[in-house]
Amino acid sequence: MERKRFYITTPIYYPSDKLHIGHTYCTVATDAMARYKRLCGYDVLFLTGTDEHGQKIEDKAKEAGVSPKEFVDRIVEGPQGVKDLWKLMNISNDRFIRTTDDYHVASIQKIFKKMYENGDIYKGKYVGKYCKPCESFWTESQLVDGKCPDCGREVQDAEEEAYFFRLSKYADRIQHLLEDTDFLEPRSRVNEMVNNFIKPGLEDLCVSRTSFTWGVPVDFDPGHVVYVWVDALFNYTTALGFLNDKYDDYEKFWPADVHFVGKEIVRFHSIIWPAMLMSMGMPLPKKVFGHGWLLLDGGKMSKSKGNVVDPYLLAQRFGVDALRFFLLRTFPFGSDGNFSNEALINTINVDLANDLGNLLSRTVSMVGKYFGGTLPTEQVEDAEKDKELVELASTLRTRYEEQMEKFAFQNALSEIFKVIDRANKYIDENAPWVLAKDMEANGARLARVMYNLLEVLRIAGILLTPFIPDSAAEVLKQIGACEACSTWESAGVWGSLPADVTVTRGENLFPRIDMEKELAALEEIAAQAKKTALPAVELEPQLTEKVDFDTFCKSDFRAVKVKACENVKKSNKLLKFTLDDGTGTDRQILSGIAAFYKPEELVGKTLMAIVNLPPRKMMGQESNGMLISAVHTEHGEERLNLLMLDDKIPAGAKMC
Ligand code: MSP
Repeated sequence: MERKRFYITTPIYYPSDKLHIGHTYCTVATDAMARYKRLCGYDVLFLTGTDEHGQKIEDKAKEAGVSPKEFVDRIVEGPQGVKDLWKLMNISNDRFIRTTDDYHVASIQKIFKKMYENGDIYKGKYVGKYCKPCESFWTESQLVDGKCPDCGREVQDAEEEAYFFRLSKYADRIQHLLEDTDFLEPRSRVNEMVNNFIKPGLEDLCVSRTSFTWGVPVDFDPGHVVYVWVDALFNYTTALGFLNDKYDDYEKFWPADVHFVGKEIVRFHSIIWPAMLMSMGMPLPKKVFGHGWLLLDGGKMSKSKGNVVDPYLLAQRFGVDALRFFLLRTFPFGSDGNFSNEALINTINVDLANDLGNLLSRTVSMVGKYFGGTLPTEQVEDAEKDKELVELASTLRTRYEEQMEKFAFQNALSEIFKVIDRANKYIDENAPWVLAKDMEANGARLARVMYNLLEVLRIAGILLTPFIPDSAAEVLKQIGACEACSTWESAGVWGSLPADVTVTRGENLFPRIDMEKELAALEEIAAQAKKTALPAVELEPQLTEKVDFDTFCKSDFRAVKVKACENVKKSNKLLKFTLDDGTGTDRQILSGIAAFYKPEELVGKTLMAIVNLPPRKMMGQESNGMLISAVHTEHGEERLNLLMLDDKIPAGAKMC
């Protein structure tokens, strides 16, 4: 029998900057869903990729002094690029599309022509506003306070000859699709689309540009490139082989079962996308799910705000599975959530280290200690004591499935952890260490207690596989689960493990993290990163105001030799110098350079001082003059270097 199919996609990412944890969120969620469906036996196609055209990329490439293709190649294929990140995060995509791939470009040209030929694309003049970072056109009435309604940034006037797509023609059908079907979820996003975009009147959409060249050329009208969103949205079908020979999966996998997309691009996926598919006479995807954003301090993460969180760093410090787990366990998928290092560490400690990690290590080590690693087949049930745990675990798969089918990852995980919690309590209730005191009388009962715990770990391990694939495999390995008792089917059957199962102790899956120490370490890393992001050397601008020569000559600069130097009490800035200035009388100068020099390393040095400044009191001591230093800023921090002269210069020599 042919297997059921499931086609799921992530948005294709703009390779204009390194991806951050917000991008990782959607891809990890899609991966969990794809793995879940594979576990259930579906023939899955999971597509991700990169959206590489548009003015933003063209501009960035120009800034970097390379061609747009070279620029995107670096971010997509280069070290710590998009593909590297998905590999690191254990993303199981079956296909990766780049919109610069030849087959995609050729398909887009055919698609554009087809919509032109069927009369849904026509030539006109575009007058309106354009938001460059979002690559979005807006009408005056759509702006919020005169700014882009998506990102709040300034928009530019735009006027040019352009092709338009008859979006207005599809308004009623789209409204019906949104209001009367489950096409768009969560439901709250439907009202947003209908009230903000459809009810005010859907206007035709500008779908070509002439002001830049980095895009798919309109082959029948040179000078025009296809609007980047038309190019991007059709990736979901060109990657299957629609109007190209690269793949042959269109009939098999289209329409998609679900597109996962961030909330700010729901508009493109739930209005423009179905309208264009209608125009092409193609079936519509079954569902668009608009997930929330990961916020930082309540605001959106963005490179330009300098508040992005680096998934590489987190994966390196906490492990890939811990990071994947945190993303889907902590935030409801449909709503926004605030990212914080505390929340991340807390989730790892509570769920993974305490609950799951402890259950596994306690159980496996008890089976080792009491039974040498292999349970005896003679086991005694205690209906009363076992009932609740057995029932909860036997029905877990059903509750989990119900949540997974709704993309409610957080709830699905909650169901698993309720059972894990219950199992930890079950250990305390049955006190295996007490039973073990009299193995002759209680050995068979103890074996059953252990077996029940292993069964819970087996079912939890299977159902955790989509979220933490490597760690779940390790759980199943340590408890001795064979292939047949690690399947989706067996997750619904209590008692699948053979009674005489053999466990293998392994590494501690999730070590507890010292919250305070880790937060301090992360803060230090962030501070360092901020510093290195600042310019290496910054110099004070030169003064333009002229000083006349006579005034300048009034300043008396002299060579001075350091006879003694010490820290000024109660000041961590000041050093006190006793200087030979050639007059035969010692001169005292205080200088704020304690952060840069140890007093003893300055004794004997020849420095430069201005000696005719009026005396000044600092920390109760008199300073007669000022030592001359060179000042610059390094990675945001001020640096002072005393001007040191050749020791051959005698004390008191005048500088002129
Ligand atoms: N290129 C378009 C998508 C075209 S799909 C045909 C695009 N790219 S993007 O790189 O800007 O964003 C990709 C996805 O990452 C979007 O779904 C966006 O919502 C998501 N995220 C970017 N930052 C995010 C967070 N801070 N939190 C959650 N998701 C966020 O849009």
